[in-house]
Amino acid sequence: MMILVTGGAGYIGSHVCLELLNAGNEVVVLDNFCTSSKLSILRVQEISGKPVLVEEGDIRDRAMLERLFQLHNVTAVIHLAGLKSIKESHANPLSYYDCNVNGTMQLLIAMGNAGVKKIVFSSSATVYGSPRSLPLSETHALAPINPYGRTKLFVEQILADLSLANPDWRVGILRYFNPVGAHESGLIGEDPIGSPNNLMPYVAQVAVGRRDHLNIWGNNHPTSDGTGVRDYVHVVDIAAGHVSAINYLDHGQSFEVNLGTGNGFSVLDVVRAFESASGKKIPYIFGPRREGDVSSCYADASAAKKLLGWKAHRDLSAMCLDHWRWQKANPDGYSGRAISE
Ligand code: NAD
Ligand code: WQD
Repeated sequence: MMILVTGGAGYIGSHVCLELLNAGNEVVVLDNFCTSSKLSILRVQEISGKPVLVEEGDIRDRAMLERLFQLHNVTAVIHLAGLKSIKESHANPLSYYDCNVNGTMQLLIAMGNAGVKKIVFSSSATVYGSPRSLPLSETHALAPINPYGRTKLFVEQILADLSLANPDWRVGILRYFNPVGAHESGLIGEDPIGSPNNLMPYVAQVAVGRRDHLNIWGNNHPTSDGTGVRDYVHVVDIAAGHVSAINYLDHGQSFEVNLGTGNGFSVLDVVRAFESASGKKIPYIFGPRREGDVSSCYADASAAKKLLGWKAHRDLSAMCLDHWRWQKANPDGYSGRAISE
């Protein structure tokens, strides 16, 4: 199969491309590189020994999309391109609706015109909002509490309407929990712009000496040690979930599933696991709770297992070891070695 991966140069996208290639697919990446580096694609080619076709462009550019579908014999789309910072989405909601919702609209229209009607979409646990019950199953109410989360929910609803109106459309919605880690080669990984918002990349930058200490947002949550609890899931497991989803859509109906492990770990659990993986001390300071943070969030991961036969295999220790291997080899992310490559 020839799979179009939008956002394929990004953190999750690069791992998805690698798993698709390893499973014998051909891959064309569409990316505008607004939050990623072209080096990630070179590294995917290096690891896999296989070529990746790259189209530089914006998902909002319909004319470009129409040309792309004429040029490549695409059988399905994995749609990861989008903006993902909750903070930025509060400050600039229109750019989030434009990129994430309008961009997806342009993509879907171009797909329809080209007769490509199979799509896997990157959604997020953030569509659930504040958990009313745990673990979070797919039937939990959808009530996002920030503009970013609403862009994800709106796209989910657009996709649901589309597959309802026309059963030719096969839609797989993947709600990721907290993707962390990196490919075991240490060649591709997460490289956030500026100060990381998420926990694991921040911890990794402390370990590698780019930052002095970690600020832990709250030690009075109703959890075992007072710090926030999340469902961390290895990015390679997440990537494998996309291959399962694409394969399932060959014969199965549209679906939405959580991609998580079903286990919750606290911030202090992550700090300890990263210290032991890296052999580095992670100094931390407790601060106030972060606005909009929920205390605990973890998945009921049974639907993905039942429907797709997918489950996460890698534990927190593997997540930290792999994240650390990437960070240690690439202390400044992709930019650090741009000159030598
Ligand atoms: P990322 O920023 O590393 O990757 C996003 C990619 O999309 C980048 O390569 C970027 O250049 C590209 N892109 C953005 N806007 C574009 C546009 N208009 N046209 C073309 N390309 C564009 O982020 P990621 O962590 O790899 O996330 C990938 C997807 O998964 C996103 O849709 C995100 O919302 C979703 N997601 C991520 C997480 C997470 O914690 N990382 C959790 C849940 C869902
Ligand atoms: C995890 C825990 C923080 C940073 C976000 C989005 C979600 C999804 C994944 C895209 C929390 C604590 C964090 C730090 C800390 N992304 N923390 N100090 O909040 O579950 O989810 O990313 O869809 O939509 O909301 O992940 O990694 O930011 O935080 O103490 O410097 O770590 O308070 O308890 P979160 P996170």
